[in-house]
Amino acid sequence: MLFKKNPPLTEADVTPEAIYKARRQFMKGSLALGASTLVPSFAQAKPTQIAADETLSQARPGWLNQQIAGATPNQMAISEELTPFQDTISYNNFYEFGYQKTDPARNSGSFNPFPWQLEVSGEVDKPTTFNLEDLLSKVTLEERIYRLRCVEAWSMVIPWIGFPLAQLLTQVKPNSRAKYVKFTSVLRPEQMPGQASAFATIDWPYVEGLRMDEAMHSLTIMAVGLYGKPLPNQNGAPLRLVVPWKYGFKSIKSVVKIELTEQQPLNTWQQIAPQEYGFYANVNPAVDHPRWSQKKERRLPSGLFRPNIIPTQLYNGYSEVADLYRGMNLKANF
Ligand code: MTE
Repeated sequence: MLFKKNPPLTEADVTPEAIYKARRQFMKGSLALGASTLVPSFAQAKPTQIAADETLSQARPGWLNQQIAGATPNQMAISEELTPFQDTISYNNFYEFGYQKTDPARNSGSFNPFPWQLEVSGEVDKPTTFNLEDLLSKVTLEERIYRLRCVEAWSMVIPWIGFPLAQLLTQVKPNSRAKYVKFTSVLRPEQMPGQASAFATIDWPYVEGLRMDEAMHSLTIMAVGLYGKPLPNQNGAPLRLVVPWKYGFKSIKSVVKIELTEQQPLNTWQQIAPQEYGFYANVNPAVDHPRWSQKKERRLPSGLFRPNIIPTQLYNGYSEVADLYRGMNLKANF
């Protein structure tokens, strides 16, 4: 993705060496995980578990562990292999913690997400600030196994634990002026070195947005966990958005504020490079990024000697969202 200074991410960012390292991590990870992640997830009876729990060092409250353990398993299962847990937690984009893929795992250790509050306000009749614990008692957690396709042309398959965003939005009673939903990430430069950096090119905090009907779609979730465990810091603890038919940058992490608005919000990447990143950001192999093709993707793990390149699907394979965009010019609204 484009930065004004010190461009840290281009398509070439995923170098053969980096891919090779990811492959080695996969081999290590899959040994630790045993066979459970290698079978299609729909064959499993409870939320996808990890044997070697890398997240244990990040202490999580008991109420969260309990809620997650009670999630309905294996919703939206697909017959594609899950990305190994190790890749999911070590190859990340979370610029608040640095620009390299390994920075979020390395630099997020002192980020403490608890207690966490979420403000939901704007064009609603019942603006509410939720404690995460109270919020989770009012929604239904389920495991959703989704493809994640980054705009940089790599992808993963991740078993998230979360709840439909619609369950949250209906609680605050949107009014008739609510046309869009604006999401804001936490601002904590003292715990997030990327925000504190003098070289930061992002105007913090990170912001994203959806149209109201996209936000209310049943595929759109707020996630609190993955692989049957609370979200690690590097994946957006304690609460992030997941919109599986859009490029990964829409799935904003560590959300503290949700505002319903009349005007379309300006999302962070559109603000940085409007000619490259749009508001919609629907996965679309027919609309190339100005600097690279979007026709194919590297499904991680993918190595130099065993490349795993697959065709990209319109809406990332979630064709049920097509109705949201009927009659729209998808090239203009990229
Ligand atoms: N959210 C915040 N707050 N900051 C970020 O830098 N990166 C986005 C998205 N959400 C980002 C973010 C991008 S570019 C991607 S591809 C996904 O998070 C990556 O999610 P993952 O690291 O869990 O795979």
